[in-house]
Amino acid sequence: MMGVFISGTFLNWLESSAMATFFRQSLWMYPAVEIVHITSFSILVGTAVLFDLRLLGLSRKLPVTDCLRYVNVLARSSFLLILPSGLILFMVDATSMATNSAFLLKMLLLVLALANAWIFHRIILKSANAWNVGVHPPLKAKVAGVLSILLWVSVISCGRLIAYI
Ligand code: HEM
Repeated sequence: MMGVFISGTFLNWLESSAMATFFRQSLWMYPAVEIVHITSFSILVGTAVLFDLRLLGLSRKLPVTDCLRYVNVLARSSFLLILPSGLILFMVDATSMATNSAFLLKMLLLVLALANAWIFHRIILKSANAWNVGVHPPLKAKVAGVLSILLWVSVISCGRLIAYI
C-alpha cells in the first residue's frame, strides 16, 4: 500500500542505512527512542484533551484563549520530539512498517487530527470572544473537541497495535 507513495528501493535504503542499523543493533537506543516517543506524544495528547474538555464546557471560568495559549506551547514543542523519534522507529523497520495496516491507519488518523486542529484554529476560534469565559462554547467548538479526543485516542490505539499486526 505505502509502496504506492514510497518505493521499495527507498524503504530498503532507509532500513539498511547506517543510522537505522545503529538503532536496530543497539541494546538500549531503540527502547530509549520509544520512551522519548511515548513521553512526547503523552504531552501532546494530554494537553489536547485538557483543552478539548474546556471546549466541552468544563472550567468555564477559565478563558478559552488563556487555556489555549498555555497548552499550545506544550503541544507544539512536543512535536519536536514526536516526529524525529517516530521517524527513527519507522526507519529501523521501514519495509514492514510501510505495509503495516495499523501504522498506515495511524498516519491517516494523525493527518485527520491535525486537519481538525487546523480548522479549529483558523475558522472556529475566530468567534471565541463571544464564548471566551462563563458560557458554553458553541456546538461547532464542542464537535471539534469531541473529534479531537476521538482522533488522538485512535492514533494512540493504532500506535499500540503496530506491534500486533
Ligand atoms: C502525534 C502523534 C503520535 C502518537 C500519538 C503516536 C503514538 C504511538 C504509540 C502509542 C505507539 C506504541 C508505542 C509502544 O507501544 O511501545 C507508537 C509506536 C510507533 N510510532 Fe508513533 N505516534 C505518533 C506519531 C508518530 C509519527 C509521526 C511516526 C512516524 C513518522 C510514528 C511512528 C511510530 C512507529 C514506527 C511505532 C512502532 C514502534 C514499535 O512498535 O516498535 N509515530 N506511536
